[in-house]
Amino acid sequence: MSKSLSDALLTRLNDRTATLAVIGLGYVGLPLAVTAASRGLKTTGLDVDPSKMHRLEAGESYIESVSDEALAEVTKTGRFDWTTDFARLSDCDVIVICVPTPLTRHREPDLSYVENTAREIAKYLKAGSLVSLESTTFPGTTVEVMTPILAESGLTPGKDFFVAFSPEREDPGNASFRTATIPKIVAGDGEAAGKLAAAFYSIVVDKVVPVSTTQTAEAIKITENIFRAVNIALVNELKLIYDAMGIDVWEVIDGAATKPFGFMPFYPGPGLGGHCIPIDPFYLTWKAREYGHTTRFIELAGEINVSMPAYVISRLRDVLDEKCGKGLKGAKILVIGISYKKNVPDMRESPAVQLVDRLLGHGAVAEFHDPHVPAIPKMRDYPNLLGMKSVPECDIAGRGYDAVLIATDHDAVDYAGLAVLGIPIIDTRNAFASRGLPMENVTKA
Ligand SMILES: NC(=O)c1ccc[n+]([C@@H]2O[C@H](COP(=O)([O-])OP(=O)(O)OC[C@H]3O[C@@H](n4cnc5c(N)ncnc54)[C@H](O)[C@@H]3O)[C@@H](O)[C@H]2O)c1
Repeated sequence: MSKSLSDALLTRLNDRTATLAVIGLGYVGLPLAVTAASRGLKTTGLDVDPSKMHRLEAGESYIESVSDEALAEVTKTGRFDWTTDFARLSDCDVIVICVPTPLTRHREPDLSYVENTAREIAKYLKAGSLVSLESTTFPGTTVEVMTPILAESGLTPGKDFFVAFSPEREDPGNASFRTATIPKIVAGDGEAAGKLAAAFYSIVVDKVVPVSTTQTAEAIKITENIFRAVNIALVNELKLIYDAMGIDVWEVIDGAATKPFGFMPFYPGPGLGGHCIPIDPFYLTWKAREYGHTTRFIELAGEINVSMPAYVISRLRDVLDEKCGKGLKGAKILVIGISYKKNVPDMRESPAVQLVDRLLGHGAVAEFHDPHVPAIPKMRDYPNLLGMKSVPECDIAGRGYDAVLIATDHDAVDYAGLAVLGIPIIDTRNAFASRGLPMENVTKA
């Protein structure tokens, strides 16, 4: 039975008649859905957020890596549509899950989005389909959490339907790589699922990297993110030490990076941001406890990275004290870049928002300028900052700021214009030196 069901799907994948549903049309899901449709698969995008549906309806992409033109092109072919109606899943051969995997307030994995999605799928799952999870999570989630919920459909995993895990490696703002050109790790639970997953992803991306188990695929993704978190913590710690010694950590890193082997540059910053690096490592921390292990590297890295905003504020306070003879209270500070990452509007876990909040907490007048973010959206930890507007570039010179704090170094900021203000600039991104701008008023932090 299972052989003929999996063979039937394999045939449909090979001749491109298989239908696809992508659940969760965010940073990961929308590019994936558009890429799959552009490569010949009839694709339905599902999301619970009606505002996203309205924007797609208006022909508007809300994700920078998907242009309005690319969206129009796949929509015109009739191979891409979108809905909030999960009943449409009953027509789909392959279902890919790209929903959020955040932490709870107690910094434990919040799998409720994955679980709710699996429950919806179970209602409509048809025999012979493949369900692939892409959300970043701890090893074991696919078979221990998702599969049992899908089995509530009455179908038997590995026999009547097939499950896979294939982590997303999307890098918003990175112009060198697109969904289709990033090699994709793929694993199925069992041989038939593995074959189906490899066949499906070979349509969507140029290079599929099959691995032995879904747990291994889950561990690969989380390892990639832990690697980044730990290395960023290392350079953040080195920044504090070299600052105290009067050595420029960016010059050190760039010098070390001339070694053609054995060194990979990571750069310090005002703290970690985004959906992945501040969050994903703690999925492993939680799961490791079940095996009696602690994740000391991860926790130490977290501690160092989390302490960065306080360090940046203390440097700003010292500079105000030294150069303006005043402290933070009453000082008027302009924060440059409020999103967490250069050249993208993504606000998730942005340390720049924390900097604004801390400055306000110290009695400073804090404002921000960000060419990508017109106003601060709803954020769980900062309801007080909702709606705060970006100061227009043309207004900056006339607002009487005491200091500028570079939190995120978007390319579309007029750094030369900031330099001529003649006020102290605290630069957490090496934005001025890397652009060859005057450094008299700049303090790196
Ligand atoms: N953003 C990245 O760069 C990136 C990179 C690699 C991996 N990931 C991982 O991919 C997953 C998704 O991340 P993202 O950045 O695309 O998140 P996102 O917030 O941009 O998108 C998630 C989407 O899922 C929708 N959603 C939530 N619950 C739903 C439900 N029950 N049914 C249908 N839709 C639902 C939301 O409305 C949203 O549109 C996460 O696990 C994340 O860790 C993200």
